Amino acid sequence: MKIAIVGTGYVGLVTGTCFAEMGLNVICVDVDKSKVEKLENGVIPIYEPGLEELVRKNHNDGRLSFTTDLESCIDDVDIIFIAVGTPPDEDGSADLKYVLEVARTIGRSMKKYVLVVTKSTVPVGTAALVRSTIQKELDDRGLNIDFDVASNPEFLKEGNAVIDFMRPDRVVVGVESEKARKLLSKLYKPFMLNNFRVIFMDVPSAEMTKYAANAMLATRISFMNSIANLCEAVGADVNMVRAGIGSDMRIGKKFLYAGCGYGGSCFPKDVKALIKTASEYGVDMEILRSVEKVNAYQKGLLFRKFSLYYNGDLKGKTVAIWGLSFKPETDDMRDAPSVVLIRSLIEAGCKVRAYDPIAMDEGRRILGDECVYYAKDMYDAVLDADGLFLVTEWKQFRLPAWNVVKKVMNHPYIVDGRNIYDVEELRSLGFDYECIGRRFDK
Ligand SMILES: NC(=O)c1ccc[n+]([C@@H]2O[C@H](COP(=O)([O-])OP(=O)(O)OC[C@H]3O[C@@H](n4cnc5c(N)ncnc54)[C@H](O)[C@@H]3O)[C@@H](O)[C@H]2O)c1
Repeated sequence: MKIAIVGTGYVGLVTGTCFAEMGLNVICVDVDKSKVEKLENGVIPIYEPGLEELVRKNHNDGRLSFTTDLESCIDDVDIIFIAVGTPPDEDGSADLKYVLEVARTIGRSMKKYVLVVTKSTVPVGTAALVRSTIQKELDDRGLNIDFDVASNPEFLKEGNAVIDFMRPDRVVVGVESEKARKLLSKLYKPFMLNNFRVIFMDVPSAEMTKYAANAMLATRISFMNSIANLCEAVGADVNMVRAGIGSDMRIGKKFLYAGCGYGGSCFPKDVKALIKTASEYGVDMEILRSVEKVNAYQKGLLFRKFSLYYNGDLKGKTVAIWGLSFKPETDDMRDAPSVVLIRSLIEAGCKVRAYDPIAMDEGRRILGDECVYYAKDMYDAVLDADGLFLVTEWKQFRLPAWNVVKKVMNHPYIVDGRNIYDVEELRSLGFDYECIGRRFDK
């Protein structure tokens, strides 16, 4: 079996590489010429643990190739995955222009049966739209060629993407025909040897499953952030509460951490898109509107704490930021809490010194280097700082040499946006310390 993956970003590159690793012939397609050139030369455009070695190995073995020319490979493959971006449109809905562009190209060029699978996160009804878009092109060409459309949303997590893809909790597949079901069963069979499950369902349910999963996770985060803020007000400790509720099997331990809000390329846009879909169908997603509201409030929390500490007198203050990416083990800064915080600090007249183990280039791209100094290391970042913000909980920030930090800071004040430090330890070292929803006397 030979497959094509269209869109060679976080999802497409991981998907293509992992299928190649299972012995399939995979061609990855992207419109970004420089990305394709880099990949052909073994340079990986994103940071994802374990991916680089796998790409190089499978490329060298001849199972994984890259091209910008989708038309040239359409009739060489049995399955085409669409894994292009679906960014939010101005009104919050998922922008399907890239997905439909791919569908048009397929319809314009195909000469034989092909199974087209949407892997991008797309609203209910998109597979049907892909089908009608391809069909229209075929009609314009006066051709009657059989094809199938299926939905196979991706659940991988950036930072753990290769492991997630190779050993998924489950694979969700929405199909409309027995032929498509058989092809996708065969494709995923190597992953199922260890009893991972493929859950077959109808196409709209598969499309909805992805949004429901991300909306549920975002809801847990906003819920815990609200509980954390209340803990702080009433004198309870959110870490204790988390331990207390997480041990209930019905609740479970994951996604119960309070922090400075969710970000990344998926939760913000998927929550927005689901609200939009619901409104189009006359269904009010009040709960998700609250999830968004709580998250926006939480993203401003670190700045408000800092401002309160200095009684609003922030002009000229030097601020250190540890962590730019939206979570550890990725360079992705899309909708990251660090961006909201840094922009507020700059607006208030602060000087920002930022450090991230991986996302420094992405930081320069998103925030520019006029108002932000990109530090050589985490200790360079705190030089002369009047405050230190821990924004992303990279492992290397867990056990800093506090004596060095204290020595070089102008004023020993820490705002811990991920609740990872020990209150007593920092206090005993002479730091003023704040975090989110934990109990200690100020
Ligand atoms: N990033 C994640 O963690 C994640 C997880 C699950 C699902 N998803 C979903 O998967 C989809 C892709 O996300 P991503 O993070 O990989 O995006 P990305 O922005 O990293 O990559 C998308 C790629 O598609 C390419 N592209 C755009 N139009 C194209 C076209 N017409 N032909 C070929 N290539 C084209 C772009 O150049 C880019 O390289 C989105 O719908 C996203 O919501 C993402």
